[in-house]
Amino acid sequence: MSDFVKLVYEGKEFKLPIITGSEGEKAIDISNLRQETGLITLDTGYANTGSCTSAITFMDGEKGILRYRGIPVEQLAEHSTFKETAYLLVHGRLPTRQELTQFSILLNDNSLVHEDMRAFYENFPRSSHPMGILSSMVNALRSFYPELQDLEEEINMTVTRLLSKVRTLAAMSYKISRGHKVVYPRPDLAYSANFLNMMFDSPVKPYELDQDVVRALSVFWILHADHEQNCSTSAVRMVGSARVNLYAAISAGIAALWGPLHGGANQAVIEMLSSIVKNRNMAQVIERAKDRKDPFRLMGFGHRVYKTFDPRMKIMKKMCDKLLKKLKIEDPLLDVAKELEEIALKDDYFISHNLYPNVDFYSGIVLRAIGIPTNMFTVMFAIGRLPGWIAQWKESLDDPNWKLCRPRQIYIGPAQTDYVSIDKR
Ligand code: CMC
Repeated sequence: MSDFVKLVYEGKEFKLPIITGSEGEKAIDISNLRQETGLITLDTGYANTGSCTSAITFMDGEKGILRYRGIPVEQLAEHSTFKETAYLLVHGRLPTRQELTQFSILLNDNSLVHEDMRAFYENFPRSSHPMGILSSMVNALRSFYPELQDLEEEINMTVTRLLSKVRTLAAMSYKISRGHKVVYPRPDLAYSANFLNMMFDSPVKPYELDQDVVRALSVFWILHADHEQNCSTSAVRMVGSARVNLYAAISAGIAALWGPLHGGANQAVIEMLSSIVKNRNMAQVIERAKDRKDPFRLMGFGHRVYKTFDPRMKIMKKMCDKLLKKLKIEDPLLDVAKELEEIALKDDYFISHNLYPNVDFYSGIVLRAIGIPTNMFTVMFAIGRLPGWIAQWKESLDDPNWKLCRPRQIYIGPAQTDYVSIDKR
């Protein structure tokens, strides 16, 4: 098999090298295309474009495979914790027992946020969406914590600080939005348990930790921890390529994740399922999703990469059933979700468009069972995705071939026209 493709243009032949990944994926390297031919490529939405090489996450959308640093997500969901998976993503391998203990100590040491940051929270309008607040607060961290230097040790410190503080910031925003007293992190609690306690403990009703709920949250976060070059991760890499500080790059990722076609889908799914329960309009919802003239889409369905099934959805659905049973919760939204899935999977439109439930289809029901309010769902996704964003940002920083991200375009506006003075227009 040749290791290049030939391009013939205006009678000349050009050879473009083929790059092969460690799982056999192939790409045409067009780095010198414009220089040699004067041409650029056009790929709206980047569906055919590899923006980087990466050793972090492997996905195969046809086979429904997702692996972090080579380890199948199913194995991590079964045996790992979110903290350990975060270490794996950021540092490139599973930690030893000693490294994990050291990581826990660092996360604990960095879990408080500067008290002055509370003033920001108190001045956001009460109706602000928590994703907008989180994005602003993460950007604001840069003003409170020292500038990142190039030293490996300092980068690791900033990374750990961010991983720990985002969890505290998210819980604080919930407490302040309710007008309740902020609960501080506790040194005796691990990552997920600590978050739940900060969210739900109250002076009048102490929060009782349930190990199945803690585990469900840890798995929820593992399933969201990375997803290679998705919209928000690409935003982190793109903004990071201008060599901004880590907080600014992550803040951009949070803003991108907020959109309903991306992380915001988990909130949109619950809103859609609730409206079906309320209005008993399942058939109408499906018809609207199929109508090309109607912009409405079945939320929690479809994926740019997965074309057979989303492996995260399978784990999430199983966990959803188990958790609701354990907590003795009967959620009408779960029945509606299952019925909707069954109908859609037999429908020609969804089959022919390769549309299957994605991770967000059942994740909101898990979060509801845990007690997370709907407007915090995407924040939960953001906490989970943080190790992935950081790992991708760090990888790009270390990449000797990394460049400022600056795509080109094909201009379709007016050709040169002369300026017309205002009295002659
Ligand atoms: N409901 C109805 N039709 C759909 C849907 C849907 N959820 N998703 C795609 N389609 C149709 C779309 O109308 C188009 O039809 P046609 O070719 O007849 O015009 C075709 O499928 C291809 O759509 P596309 O928008 O070109 O595909 P894409 O790869 O850009 O879309 C997606 C991926 C996730 C944006 C889309 O499937 C979608 O909007 N889904 C709903 C939102 C959602 O659940 N997002 C969460 C994704 S998973 C979490 C994450 O990783 O962010």
